[in-house]
Amino acid sequence: MHFRPARNWMNDPNGLVFHDGRYHLYYQYNPNGADHGFMSWGHATSADLVDWDEHPVAIRHTDEHEIFSGSAVFDEHDSSGLGTEGTPPLVAVFTLADQRGRHQAQGIASSTDGGFTWTSYAGNPVLDRGSSDFRDPKVFRYSGPAGDYWVMVAVEAQERRVVLYRSDDLKAWTYLSDYGPRGATGGVWECPDLFPLAVDGDPDDVRWVLLISLNPGGIAGGSGTQYVVGRFDGVRFVPDEPGPPAAPRDGWDCSRAQLEACDWLDYGRDCYAGVTFSGLASEDRVLIAWMSNWDYAGQLPVDAERPQRGAMTLARRLSLSRRGGRVRLIQEAIGPATTPLDPDPRGSTWPREVAAGATLALDLAPQARLRVRLHPAGGAGAGLAAELRFRDARGVSAVLRFADGALSLDRRPGAAGLSSAFGSVQRVQLAEPGLFEAEIWVDNADSGRGSVEVFADGGAVALTDLVGTRITCVELVAVGDAMLVEEWSAEIPRTVLAEA
Ligand code: FRU
Repeated sequence: MHFRPARNWMNDPNGLVFHDGRYHLYYQYNPNGADHGFMSWGHATSADLVDWDEHPVAIRHTDEHEIFSGSAVFDEHDSSGLGTEGTPPLVAVFTLADQRGRHQAQGIASSTDGGFTWTSYAGNPVLDRGSSDFRDPKVFRYSGPAGDYWVMVAVEAQERRVVLYRSDDLKAWTYLSDYGPRGATGGVWECPDLFPLAVDGDPDDVRWVLLISLNPGGIAGGSGTQYVVGRFDGVRFVPDEPGPPAAPRDGWDCSRAQLEACDWLDYGRDCYAGVTFSGLASEDRVLIAWMSNWDYAGQLPVDAERPQRGAMTLARRLSLSRRGGRVRLIQEAIGPATTPLDPDPRGSTWPREVAAGATLALDLAPQARLRVRLHPAGGAGAGLAAELRFRDARGVSAVLRFADGALSLDRRPGAAGLSSAFGSVQRVQLAEPGLFEAEIWVDNADSGRGSVEVFADGGAVALTDLVGTRITCVELVAVGDAMLVEEWSAEIPRTVLAEA
């Protein structure tokens, strides 16, 4: 359910495009090994965003250039002239990063066989600012009061600046505006995305979401992605709230308070460089991110027989909703169809009171979806402290704790033998101290490791972490007063059941 190539290194998702009934996922890929290098675009496709087929490398590095991150669009009216008679092309836009690390500019390639083979454009680069850190172009079609044209958002990474350009043919680009530095600036800005969504589905209240990944300087440490909600008039992005702090005067680092004033796509450590698909209806906004962190991605141990590093998060459907006076990004995981694993081992019905100190355990399949919903048994005003203990064959590997309205994930217990940057605790405040409700996807597909993706506060808070060992069982423990459990269940993907 989490895509990973059969071998070798993978990082950012690239060129996400839905075309001819298929989701195409390209990604930063090293065809030669399990470390970052020789960057090329790997390729996988899926009909449902869950089961992926890996294909041969789509766009390969050359002796001069690596192919860094970027996007892909269907050039329906062949504005680029790169199609053939009757076949408009898919056009990929990416960063040509010179092998010596001194120069980055944007190039394009086209495909007339539905995204399987690509031809590099002879006039590359198409956009060059003479910069060493100008990268990660995300292109979309803008159609609004200002006109109808292609827009590119990219970054001047070191300057913590998003730069916007427009084009009529994907080849000649003119400058529109830029955004930043602003908000979180503790690391280079990378992999931006900009897209519209209607607030609570209201077509008269459309906002634009600007995603900015940064590394390091994320809320959980290392790589992270902030988002800003605002307006885009075809030229300039203007945030709704002047709120997020401007860049600090002395250096780029931000205080904890400054980071907490920003909105984050994910509060865990392993959700980076997430971008959305093109080619879907405007309200069908689907994101995939890289499930790792530059702090330790290159040090994760590999299986000697089949060296591989890196995986994607689950695909997530995005929407906007007003919560407590603010417009927040809501995420819904797109996982496999599931079947209850063990709906209720003791046959009793929910809700059930769980005494202080008592435990409800669930054995897990290699992949599972957990759902939990609980209140303090003493009613409003009583404290609520609960833990989900993820266990491997030897003991506890990670603990998800909900107490005093805050959610934290401590993966230090299972981090022995891994990079020192891996052992960490993440924490995020949730909206309601007296209710804990979450959906959690667990996957052990990595060699020797697991991952948890937590969606809480109705999808307004996501927390994604790799964990150091394989998870075989999860316990729900009332660590404070008695609690009233309304739901505690595990479901497993039907495909996993079929294989068992
Ligand atoms: C983000 C990133 C991008 C770059 C790519 C290189 O993780 O650093 O800015 O294009 O990875 O692989």
